[in-house]
Amino acid sequence: MAAFSLPLRLSAGQIGTRFNTWRSRLIADARFQRWAAASPLTRRLARRKARALFDLCAGFVYSQILRACVQLEVFELLRGGPKDLAWLAARMRLTVPAARRLLSSAASLRLLRELPGDRFALDDLGAAVNGNPAIAAFVDHHDLLYADLKDPVALLRGETDTNLSRFWPYAGNRAHARSEAEDPADSGWPPESDDGRASAYSDLMSRTQPLVAENILDAYPFARHRCLLDVGGGDGAFLASAAERAPHLALKLFDLPPVAARARDRIEALGLSGRAEAIGGDMLRDSLPHGADVASLIRVLHDHDDESVRVILAAIYDALPPRGVLLVAEPMAGVRGVEPMGEAYFGFYLLAMGRGRPRSASEIAAHLEEAGFRWVRPLKTRRPLLVSALAATRV
Ligand SMILES: C[S@@+](CC[C@H](N)C(=O)[O-])C[C@H]1O[C@@H](n2cnc3c(N)ncnc32)[C@H](O)[C@@H]1O
Repeated sequence: MAAFSLPLRLSAGQIGTRFNTWRSRLIADARFQRWAAASPLTRRLARRKARALFDLCAGFVYSQILRACVQLEVFELLRGGPKDLAWLAARMRLTVPAARRLLSSAASLRLLRELPGDRFALDDLGAAVNGNPAIAAFVDHHDLLYADLKDPVALLRGETDTNLSRFWPYAGNRAHARSEAEDPADSGWPPESDDGRASAYSDLMSRTQPLVAENILDAYPFARHRCLLDVGGGDGAFLASAAERAPHLALKLFDLPPVAARARDRIEALGLSGRAEAIGGDMLRDSLPHGADVASLIRVLHDHDDESVRVILAAIYDALPPRGVLLVAEPMAGVRGVEPMGEAYFGFYLLAMGRGRPRSASEIAAHLEEAGFRWVRPLKTRRPLLVSALAATRV
């Protein structure tokens, strides 16, 4: 069969490309697929690949099953142990057949376990949702994202007026400007006080921050620093975690005025007013507060285009003293083992948001070096799916 034979007369440099093209043609061939599915040599691999492809096709259905479980509080209902189908159906206000359909589907996805006698219990994935409120926060938030992704080609062509550009007003209002840094501040954003938009995105960030903070604080010791400046620090969730982990540390936060006002409330509520302050401003235009010897940019750079990244890093360089350290932590592109999170998920999330892109650690390192930082080093975070981190030193 011609389709199964390797082309001859390949030059050394072309072998890789030719081989891949030949392999793709082979895999696309229906006769080869039938053979691979039947042969004892390839059967397992063929099944694994077929499953991976099916999962890609069915991903939205799986997400919506998780969505229904979160919305109906299934994981919460099972927190105390296994429950009967009839009891669960009544609590979810579903008919018994509808409840069975949902719960059995969730069991096939390893969120739940189906037990003998029409009973259901948490499986590992469902238990993990209970232990991590950030997951439920993201699942809720995905209503907006998935509506934006309904026509992905229109989104790629810039023809979609997205929900996420309204949810993230600092990104959306500038989506069509030639560049963020040039954009005139006449868009009505940010308002002097919160009109609800700053609290909506800041709430989501706070709910998803604890695990991120834990990973960063485990990866970088703050013991040798005096004062932390968290740039784009949101309403202070990371600051609060850092304050707890490093009781000697003074703390500053810089964010847009309505967000900084929320951070001030948190600082006061936590009794941190003596050692922490929140300053409102625009990091693309204003200079940053001086006095800190370590600065952090957590989930900030990926929201920005390259030109703004240069402005932000220059402002931080200017605010830090010699030997001051900058930590950059965010989900990064090209991280081994979690490539789809950086490239696919954040690639399309940020597209819908209207600004920014996921960058690899080496792209961020290049920006840091261009800004004058030296000794850029990766930090080992325990969950690179959530956040990767780099540290760099100001010379
Ligand atoms: C994705 S959120 C991350 C918040 C926080 N660092 C975290 O990880 O939870 C980005 C933050 O950057 C802030 N931000 C965006 N543009 C800004 C600007 N031009 N000046 C100051 N802060 C800005 C936003 O208000 C928001 O709080």
